[in-house]
Amino acid sequence: MSIKRIAVLTAGGDAPGMNAAVRSVVRYATSKKVEVYGVFRGWWGLINEELKVFNGRSVSGIINSGGTILKTTRCLDFQTEEGQKRAYDTIKKYAIDALVPIGGNGTFAAAHGFFKRYKVPCVGIAASIDNDINGIDTTIGSDTAINTALAAIDNIRDTATSMERIFLVEVMGRGSGYIALQVALSAGCEDVVIPERKFDLSSMCHDIVNGNIRGKVSWIIVVAEGAGSAVEIAKEINEITSLETRAVVLGHIQRGGRPTAFSRSLATLLGQAAVDSLLKGEQDKAVGMCAGGIVSVDLETAIQKKEMQVDSLYNLIKTLT
Ligand code: F6P
Repeated sequence: MSIKRIAVLTAGGDAPGMNAAVRSVVRYATSKKVEVYGVFRGWWGLINEELKVFNGRSVSGIINSGGTILKTTRCLDFQTEEGQKRAYDTIKKYAIDALVPIGGNGTFAAAHGFFKRYKVPCVGIAASIDNDINGIDTTIGSDTAINTALAAIDNIRDTATSMERIFLVEVMGRGSGYIALQVALSAGCEDVVIPERKFDLSSMCHDIVNGNIRGKVSWIIVVAEGAGSAVEIAKEINEITSLETRAVVLGHIQRGGRPTAFSRSLATLLGQAAVDSLLKGEQDKAVGMCAGGIVSVDLETAIQKKEMQVDSLYNLIKTLT
């Protein structure tokens, strides 16, 4: 089937660099004589016919902005047969030949389910701060989120050192400890708590007290949200050690902001890759970066649980305390 018209959408949690990906899809597809519709608010926009023709000008001046000009939602209606039927009606009505959903594994699971039912060719672009997509090493937005968290922790270190306190800093990542590990390593944090490794509170308190005896009086411990609550752990450490602790939850700060050079260039390469993949006749795929190159993986594979190798970073963080 020849691809003459595609629709691009962003779904799930926004990630910095999504706009750069939208820009790349629109401009690259246009250069290949493929028409592009921009769909608003993710799958919701397909269900509710909120879309419009995009051209090169529609995506001017967005490469450096966070969020997504297409808006995004977590759309429960698209998980129903009725919702998918309405989305398919829109696709037929606008003579759309293929879809480019930009998002994370929730978006890809929805895309795969829709492909199985209606066989509309679909190539997703991996974008999520969590970096938890199977078969893909790096997603759009994760580098920016790490740098945002890093800047925050650098600030926290100033006050932690000055007031000789223990800080527990909670970062996002859903079930993945990727952001936590990367930021703990690059901020020189004393410890990290991630869902991929068992957390031992009494051994952490033992290390803190011993460190204190040696003269190490300030600690920054990064807690991945999927592994526990920084607020709760801070309370427990304070009760056990009687040392002054504070908790900071970085939250949605990590989702916004100007995308880093890496997030933008990755997004731009993946926009091109998604269009090329569709033009080659691929369907039910996702594009992302793996082993330094751009790959396309089956959506079926991409939505499986990603097993991250954490040992070397995890052990190094603890060794360097
Ligand atoms: O998947 C991205 C993410 O930011 C996760 O890290 C976090 O757990 C979740 O989304 C938060 O979702 P919401 O913005 O819907 O609260």
